[in-house]
Parts: sequence; C-alpha cells; structure tokens
Amino acid sequence: MMGVTHALVTGGAGFIGSHLTRALLAQGTRVTVLDNLSVGRRETVPDAARLVCGDVRDSVAVADALTGVDGVFHLAAQVTIRGSFDRFCEDLDTNVMGTARLLRAMDASQVRWFVLASSMAVYADAESPEPIAESHPTKPLSPYGVGKLAAEGVCQQVCAARGVPFTALRYFNTFGPGQAYTPYVGVITIFVTRLLRGEPPVIFGDGEQQRDFVHVEDIVAGTTAAPGRRPGIYNLGTGRGTSLKALARMITRRLEPSIAPVFGPPQAGELRFSIADITAAREALGFAPTRTLEDDFDAVVADIKTR
Ligand SMILES: NC(=O)c1ccc[n+]([C@@H]2O[C@H](COP(=O)([O-])OP(=O)(O)OC[C@H]3O[C@@H](n4cnc5c(N)ncnc54)[C@H](O)[C@@H]3O)[C@@H](O)[C@H]2O)c1
Repeated sequence: MMGVTHALVTGGAGFIGSHLTRALLAQGTRVTVLDNLSVGRRETVPDAARLVCGDVRDSVAVADALTGVDGVFHLAAQVTIRGSFDRFCEDLDTNVMGTARLLRAMDASQVRWFVLASSMAVYADAESPEPIAESHPTKPLSPYGVGKLAAEGVCQQVCAARGVPFTALRYFNTFGPGQAYTPYVGVITIFVTRLLRGEPPVIFGDGEQQRDFVHVEDIVAGTTAAPGRRPGIYNLGTGRGTSLKALARMITRRLEPSIAPVFGPPQAGELRFSIADITAAREALGFAPTRTLEDDFDAVVADIKTR
C-alpha cells in the first residue's frame, strides 16, 4: 500500500475494521486501532495492533491514537439505518461530530491519506434495479445516511484545505464472518441467526427490494487499495442485485427448508433498489470483487454458530 506505513483504523474492533486491521498487518503496515468497544470486541483486534480503547469524540483518546500515524481509515460509526430514526442525536454525534473531531486532531503534515467508510445510504432511491454510479443523486432516506453524507462533505473540504488526499468509499451491504448480531444491521446475519434459533426470517415490505451483497474481504481489498490511487468517491459493491425474497429463499432452503419467511410492514429509511455501479472503483482502485454469497454461505453460517 503506497505511502502509508502506520495506519489508524477507527472502529478497528468492529466487523469490517477487524478484517481491515488484519489485512493491513499482513501487508506489513503498522496499525493502531481506536474503538470504544460499544459494538466491537477486544478479542478481534490482533495482538500485533496497538489498541486504544476510546471514543472518536474524546480528544485525548484521538490524540493518543493518532500518534505516529501517517494514514487514517475512519470506520468508527453507529451503523444502523432503521435505528437512526430513534437514536439520531447519538448517531449524528458519533458519525458527524466524531469525524469532525478526528479531522481537527489530525496533523496534516503527518497524514498522507484519509479514507472514510461511507455508505450506499447516502443515495436517493433508484427507480429500477439498475446499478447506480457515484453521480446518482444523493438524497438520504435516513438520519444515518444524512450523517454519512455530511461526514463525506466535511472530510472532503477539510482534507482539501489541508492538502491531505481523501477517498470516500461507499460500501454496499457487507457480509462475511465476524458481523455482530443486532436486529438492525446485516440482513444475512439476521436471517441466519433467526433460522438457527428456529425463528422465521422477517421480510419488511414485499421482498422485491434489491441489495448488493459484497463480501467483507472484497471491501477490505478495495479499502487498502485507496491510499496512493486517485482520490475520490467510489462505490464498493459487486454490481449484482439480490431481492430480499430471493435471499430469504436461498437461506431457508440451505438452512431450514421447513421454515417460511414472514412479511412485516415496510420500514422507514429503506431503499427500494441499492446496487452499485463499480466502474469507477475498478478503474481507479483496481477493485475486482471475487466472492459470492453462494460460495461463502457455509463459512458465514459456521461463524455465526460459534457465537
Ligand atoms: N456493514 C455494512 O454493510 C456497511 C455498509 C455501508 C457502510 N458501512 C460502514 O462501514 C464502517 C464499519 O461498519 P461495520 O459494519 O464494521 O460496523 P461495526 O459496528 O461492526 O463497526 C463499527 C465500530 O465502531 C465502533 N464505534 C462506534 N461508535 C464509536 C465511537 N463513538 N468511538 C469509537 N468507536 C466507535 C464500534 O465499537 C465498532 O467496533 C462504518 O463506518 C459503517 O457506517 C458498513
């Protein structure tokens, strides 16, 4: 990875952050993790990384975590679309003000790259299941999406003013081992967890909504590729859509064919179609996702069973 020798991974004890930390260490990059362990777990942080247990909103913890760092991967966030309608104050405080505090504390002469984990939640809904490019209008349907878009904007402006190259990566629905179970995040983890408990998966709405499910290792490959390449805003997904009905069918068939999904009311904040056009990331970052849910399904189930 060009340029970065010591990376700060905020949210590095979380699902994507812990995979990213391991990948950076494997590439020979030193890593400091800053995580308040609200969702992330200490055991997921390898011993080779330095762990600062603290909050991105706490200037003392942030200054400590930035010591000696020349690249930042900012993943710490409250990650929930639906939950952000109830907890918008807390979520915006972390996702926007936490980002602002991190930027303020950063020594621009030292940091050679700043990467933000953004989200497909910044986009306006799409009319059809066609992949959307980065030029698709941004009109978030949830407070979470509003916060991610604001974080992108403030990072872009502050980094530009200080001469720090900045890349925002709009992750689509990420799956894979290590995702914490909550009722809100990660529909695959939620469906599998419910089925293992003998409960039916709940589909909100008619189930025809489509998502772009991308494996965490592909997300990590796109993220580590960012420093040293063209700064910008890039979608990271696969370009393929899967309806929630088809997803539920595939998961029940493989895990518990006797249980049928049930349908619940549509939820606020949910996009109808959320599929990434990844042309820009392919060209600028050499991003080339290789994993599929079908191939990785058994590994995901095995991981969930261990918890
Ligand atoms: N999982 C997805 O499908 C997805 C999709 C789009 C974008 N993203 C983004 O990717 C990033 C990582 O998401 P994830 O799925 O790994 O979620 P996660 O919840 O597993 O990881 C987030 C981590 O941030 C930590 N954290 C939360 N608030 C903090 C605070 N105030 N101070 C310090 N640490 C704090 C948590 O303890 C957790 O370890 C997030 O920025 C998220 O918005 C995720």
